[in-house]
Amino acid sequence: MGITWTTDLNTGIEVIDNQHRRIVEYINQLEQAALRRDMPSVGRVLEDLVDYTQSHFAFEESLQEEVGYQYAKPHKAVHEMFIKRVSGYQQRHAAGENVIEALHTMLSTWLIHHIKRDDMAYVREVGVKAQAATQPTQTGGWLGRSLKRFFG
Ligand SMILES: [Fe+2]
Ligand SMILES: [Fe+2]
Repeated sequence: MGITWTTDLNTGIEVIDNQHRRIVEYINQLEQAALRRDMPSVGRVLEDLVDYTQSHFAFEESLQEEVGYQYAKPHKAVHEMFIKRVSGYQQRHAAGENVIEALHTMLSTWLIHHIKRDDMAYVREVGVKAQAATQPTQTGGWLGRSLKRFFG
């Protein structure tokens, strides 16, 4: 079943919420492609999803560093563990194993859980600073620089 965006997934930091929404869209696209048994699309969406998620993680980690979040390191470790898990699935997928359904379930549960628990935790603690750092006010500011750096 597709993920529906609900308000309890909003962190209130617009740029982060937009990135999370985009990841959710990719997860839903993956499910659609799998339901159509459209394997080329599955492969393509999976690649885009991993690529985009890695950019989001790097962006978020950099934001946490910028605002001095005390648990930036463990948060980064959680991101890394997730990427490892996904690449495990990707390898099995590439080897011809049928893992898409299991992967899709893992992606949806993991992401929702991570946003609600870990991402909300940093927003509770350093949300005000993160808000300020992500205002698109000045050119050459943190937001513009970081979007360019992590999303190209
Ligand atoms: Fe995160
Ligand atoms: Fe996040």
